[in-house]
Amino acid sequence: MISRKLALTGALMLGVSLCASQAFAQATPAPLPDPPKFDAQQAPNFVSISDIMEYKALAEYHEPQWVTDQFVKTGKLPAVKDRLPTEPLVFKTANEPDGTGVYGDVMRHVIGGRPQGWNYAAGQVQGWGGIDIGMFECLTRTGPLFEVKADELEPMPNLAKSWDWSADGHELTMHLIAGAKWSDGEPFTADDVMFYWEDNISDPNVKPLNSAGPDSFGVGTTLKKIDDNTVLWTFKDAFPKQYLYTMAYGGFCPLPAHLLKPQHPKYSSNTYEQYTNAFPPEFLNFPVMGAWVPVEYRADDIVVMRRNAYYWKVDEAGNQLPYLDEMEYKLSTWADRDVQAVAGTGDFSNLEQAESYVEALKRSADPAAPARLAFGARTIGYSLYPNLSGNGWGEPDARSQAVRELNRNTDFRLALTSAIDRQHLGDSLVKGPFTAIYPGGLYAGTAYYDKASTVYYPFDVGVAKAALEKAGLKDTDGNGIVNFPAGTADGQDVSVTLLANADYQTDKNLAEGVVASMEAIGIRVIVDLVSGANMTATQNSGKWDWQIFRNGSELISVVQNTASLAPTGPQTSPLHRAGADGTVDLLPWEQQMVDVVNKFIATSDAAQRVELMKQYQKLYTENVNAIGLTQYPGALIINKRFANIPAGAPIFMFNWAEDNIIRERVFVPTDKQQNLELHAKTLPGAPGLGNGPMSD
Ligand code: GLA
Repeated sequence: MISRKLALTGALMLGVSLCASQAFAQATPAPLPDPPKFDAQQAPNFVSISDIMEYKALAEYHEPQWVTDQFVKTGKLPAVKDRLPTEPLVFKTANEPDGTGVYGDVMRHVIGGRPQGWNYAAGQVQGWGGIDIGMFECLTRTGPLFEVKADELEPMPNLAKSWDWSADGHELTMHLIAGAKWSDGEPFTADDVMFYWEDNISDPNVKPLNSAGPDSFGVGTTLKKIDDNTVLWTFKDAFPKQYLYTMAYGGFCPLPAHLLKPQHPKYSSNTYEQYTNAFPPEFLNFPVMGAWVPVEYRADDIVVMRRNAYYWKVDEAGNQLPYLDEMEYKLSTWADRDVQAVAGTGDFSNLEQAESYVEALKRSADPAAPARLAFGARTIGYSLYPNLSGNGWGEPDARSQAVRELNRNTDFRLALTSAIDRQHLGDSLVKGPFTAIYPGGLYAGTAYYDKASTVYYPFDVGVAKAALEKAGLKDTDGNGIVNFPAGTADGQDVSVTLLANADYQTDKNLAEGVVASMEAIGIRVIVDLVSGANMTATQNSGKWDWQIFRNGSELISVVQNTASLAPTGPQTSPLHRAGADGTVDLLPWEQQMVDVVNKFIATSDAAQRVELMKQYQKLYTENVNAIGLTQYPGALIINKRFANIPAGAPIFMFNWAEDNIIRERVFVPTDKQQNLELHAKTLPGAPGLGNGPMSD
């Protein structure tokens, strides 16, 4: 209010005559308060990627004794050396916080998600919480980059063990790990990679989970098989190294072509729906490249995963990984994950729902507490996203189309952002130094954030109401709700649907906060709560007016999934995708954001990149691309019996902690091991068969 008065007084003093519309309170940026001081509890030990891993043949290899006794000696499995690639991925001992591990024990996860099935390639959710991260390996890997030196930052090799750029930078030859096998013993080859690219990522009827389609690798990019272990990328830009990040989790994690291809509509009489649902959760022993394979599923109860006997990573002593024989996923709620991890009946949680922070902190402070809790940086953040498509994405009806037109009106978005009391909203989740005012865009405290480029419109109901009026909205029938302008949606009350994830208390609380804030300025908001399993599909469908969601890693790291920072392609942005005619109807400032992001992708000049992200942040926050709500730190809770947990592992940065802590290297020292495994001394069996068929 103060700044507005000053602005008006200033104008009057200059003798400028104000016409009626200028007399409205204007949305005026204000200084952004600094986030309250809250230090992360541990810093990572920064290293080079070559300190973490290499690919190398070792003189000898080992496996758990029971695997040799029960499976190799009885002829059920080849010797471990014959199950491994010629040059396995080797984790270096010096980078393992507690050194070489021992086999055995289980990590008991608790999750709020539910598996729809195993067809990640067709967009099925496995339940989150690290199930998919443990099952599917990707061409590159980014989770552990939180501990890689900033000036050496690039994705870690993974299924792609190395790559070379052509002299002109338009071609990238990728060498895949040679001789690696799926968990059922079938070879992993370039055919798996090509099937994933051609018939999943690039098939418009299929959308791999977390994928934004082929354009997330650059519009016009192609991929070709050279031989069984080599593929060739061709890009329109020169040296678009950014896409190496998109080849990590979420972007390019191939599934077994030998299972999926016979079910795909292109090669069978199946419909796309039949293809998607061909591997329900009951289909056990689904072949994976990851360290654990699902061997048991009970609806609303549990998913149990056992060690992959063909896993292609080892430690320096030649021990085949993982060290942990079992991964369990109790199917409960996300809030229960925190409670159980703190109590010691679960082993792991990403403490991320601010409502439970005080209690979790209190209980973990006891030296006898079973779990350790370590806070990281403020990388959990939420925004309110207006659907910016005006040309039919999600086939809106007349009311919804009228909302889209409003969403595309800057005065309207200024009204929304001015209506939010962020301090109050944060405090309503948790009191204390946790939450910070988040205007939107890049997060304070991250590498590319620049405060001076961040435009912050403070909470001011008067300003918000005036901006609504400027957008043409008036309460014509005096019922407290503004009406659409005459001729639009029959001049009815403005009511907006707000999509939010039903599985998280935080999402629900923030949705309630938005409803109340909007009511105060005369907009009716109807919350559409959707379960986590269906959330991704609903978001992708475009059938929403507004949505609230926990932001992705691109707003933290910028270098990961960069193409999704703006509608750079028809499907890349979560809030603005192509309408029925295949085009994205970009607003002028969106076009500028697209140009900035494309320039960022096309250059590796560090200073220029910093400059471009300043422009991005300015365009984003000044035009209110989305309405930031709050940002706060997360904490990793992990049972004290686990070893090899890297210092300073964030719950969310390039990826979630389930990837960041490198679970395949995590172990439980012998004297701390407990007899908790549900399927001790069993291995996954043949695909589609029931649990633990290979018990001896
Ligand atoms: C969910 C949880 C996160 C994390 C991810 C992993 O989204 O809320 O904490 O476990 O799953 O995919």
